[in-house]
Amino acid sequence: MTTPRRPTLRHLVSINDLSDEEIGRIFDLAQHYLDKLHDPDFDHRIASGLDIGNGRILASLFFEPSTRTRLSFESSMSRLNGKVITSADSNTSSAAKGESLADTIRVCSNYADIIVLRHPRDGAARYAADYSSVPIINGGDGSHEHPTQTLCDLFTLRQENKDIANLSIAISGDLRRSRTVHSLVYALVRFGASIILQPAKGMELPPYLVKRLRSEFRCRIDRVEEDEIDTLIDAYYVTPEQPHQPALFADRADEQWHLANLKRKKIDSVYVTRFQKERHDDADSAAAYPVINKRFMQDDRYSKTSILHPLPRVGELDTDLDADNRAAYFRQAAYGVPVRMALIALLLGLEKDYRLERFEGGYQHGAHPVVEQPRGSGATCANRNCIVHDEGEARHIADKFQWISGEEPVLRCHYCETDVPAFVAADKRHKRTYANPPGKAHPENLIFFADHDQAVAAGYQLSGKG
Ligand code: NCD
Repeated sequence: MTTPRRPTLRHLVSINDLSDEEIGRIFDLAQHYLDKLHDPDFDHRIASGLDIGNGRILASLFFEPSTRTRLSFESSMSRLNGKVITSADSNTSSAAKGESLADTIRVCSNYADIIVLRHPRDGAARYAADYSSVPIINGGDGSHEHPTQTLCDLFTLRQENKDIANLSIAISGDLRRSRTVHSLVYALVRFGASIILQPAKGMELPPYLVKRLRSEFRCRIDRVEEDEIDTLIDAYYVTPEQPHQPALFADRADEQWHLANLKRKKIDSVYVTRFQKERHDDADSAAAYPVINKRFMQDDRYSKTSILHPLPRVGELDTDLDADNRAAYFRQAAYGVPVRMALIALLLGLEKDYRLERFEGGYQHGAHPVVEQPRGSGATCANRNCIVHDEGEARHIADKFQWISGEEPVLRCHYCETDVPAFVAADKRHKRTYANPPGKAHPENLIFFADHDQAVAAGYQLSGKG
């Protein structure tokens, strides 16, 4: 029997699956829909529809609670005159009988032309995409990413603040576990914005993400001492290096000037997030969680600041701001419809003047090779919430890593994108570990172990000190 050809299609799992230019194309189409279909009384609200999705079906597979994401996708598909099938309660789907996500996706690919997936496990969307013959849209996977929320956030910034490059954006709250923040930070630095991180105590951005911002996205991250700022919150400044912002950041000698300048700068937007209580251990506490209210916003730096929140809010964003003209969060939720209409239309190829490139398997092959090894044969992802550790998927899932070679090589989980903290690389042909990081080794010949003992137990010889 021949293996079926992997179809050419397009998934959206991480915001980094889209180029800056493609994000611009989604926004152009979203703006086109908004101009054409908006409610005459409310500019930000879509009030009528198109015929282009006739005969197409969107499946929403939600294994976690959702209001905005699921309903705005369903509303968007309906506005395109497509149909929607939903599995929003995992207790009534076959997951309750023990069906794997891999099988659910393979089956649903035959019932729908596009699937939106929300799942509590980090990396579940990338895994699902590996099994899908129709586009998968990540509607939020654990604390990993939520790329379509970021599209709505950026679109809102464009409407409220115009050009995203050179904006100063404060992000407040649970930065460790907020998937919306993770996708947003990548996008903002790509577009050249400066970010002031205001995490709740102990809820800073995860270390793997900070490392990646520095090494791959060429960001500087400066910690600002508490007495330098007039809030209760510790702040960190994330600033893009050249070439994004040459005017503000001419060379490294100007760093101190740049930082001082940024501290004085007005904040263009505040992005507030809730404590992600379902993703924390019981021991974690939100006792000192920052609250954004009228008093916080009265500082002169916030006089023209748009206030964004992906919602739901649970106390961290005071209702005393709802009537304030800086509050943009309900408009931000409304923009979910034109943005998601545009995304669906592009992924399904419904608009002849607006297209996204398609790839075999659904992604552009990245700069870094992906190394795959059977589960239990070597190193594994260290993130216990990664889909790779889900018992129900054990028979379908391999340990897959992106291999980023160099002086300080990185082994990154293909699914949840966290880095494996320590590992030993070896050559499968010669059954030997490498003494030094393998530079140009062919990925097919590579295998990774957790440590030397595991390599020896698998019958590998140690080459000097690895
Ligand atoms: C967010 C999510 O699910 O990550 N909600 C949303 O999709 N708008 C934010 C959150 O739950 O805090």
